[in-house]
Amino acid sequence: MVVPSSKVASVFRAGLFKDRVAIVTGGGTGIGKAIALELLYLGCKVMIASRKTEQLEKASVEMCKQIDRQGRGPAQLHHVQCNIRKEEQVKNLMSATLSTYGKIDFLVNNGGGQFPSAAANISLKGWNAVVETNLTGTFLCCREVYNQWMQEHGGIIVNIIADMWKGFPSMSHTGAARSAVDNLTKSLAIEWASDGVRVNSVAPGSSIYSETAAANYGDFNIFSRNIPSVPAKRLGTTEEVSAAVCFLLSPAASFISGETLKVDAGSSIYPSMTWTIPEHKKLPAYRWDDDDDGTSGSQNTPKSKL
Ligand code: ADE
Repeated sequence: MVVPSSKVASVFRAGLFKDRVAIVTGGGTGIGKAIALELLYLGCKVMIASRKTEQLEKASVEMCKQIDRQGRGPAQLHHVQCNIRKEEQVKNLMSATLSTYGKIDFLVNNGGGQFPSAAANISLKGWNAVVETNLTGTFLCCREVYNQWMQEHGGIIVNIIADMWKGFPSMSHTGAARSAVDNLTKSLAIEWASDGVRVNSVAPGSSIYSETAAANYGDFNIFSRNIPSVPAKRLGTTEEVSAAVCFLLSPAASFISGETLKVDAGSSIYPSMTWTIPEHKKLPAYRWDDDDDGTSGSQNTPKSKL
């Protein structure tokens, strides 16, 4: 297992994001917390948001201590309770950040959630919840940050998606939603380019280990199961995702927009089985019956002539 480090570090230069302001949704746990920490370490003012105030408070105290301990304090960190599925709460997240810091340079859409289930067993309620969180919530945050700030002042958006490049059997809802965010990223990058807004995505592999994700999946030990299919033959860290996000937020990426950067050590292009298909004969070859008049191709009774 990957042991999370209590130290904050960055390959980027100290003060890179001094006087910048970032919103990180889902910034109290896992990948979002690593992103918030690295941004703070680089001098950024950060607003973290999620549904759970208690979690945000705990994470804020921890992060401020960590930044202080390394002589990079005092961290400029605030938090707002926000369910990204609720339009009014998203509007409030943007306006609260503007009241607190006076501007918004960066939006990192990391807040999201899903649960493992075969597609056949996903209820409409479960499907809608996952799509509303991962797709609609991301859209609302993008639209609101644009309307309230970035249309006039420019800015940079990074959406965190997933490794859904070969579909996402066992979590089809999140696969569909994240794939839609990949496409949304491209639309917004074009629509908002002339306002000085860059929009990109980062797609972490399923092998990024965080305590939060491990706890979420419980017995469904997605992490150790995944190691053989990772070309690096190890799990990835939340800090490795954070570095990619910081790169896209930095001037080093000033000519990059509408792009999705995979952080998966090549897992998504490595042929491996995340879903085992049992032996079956239920998809026979199609062919015309000899006596067929062309109106009733028999898919289920292939002839032996093939
Ligand atoms: N993280 C997971 N679900 C979320 C939601 N609905 N709003 C904000 N952050 C979240």
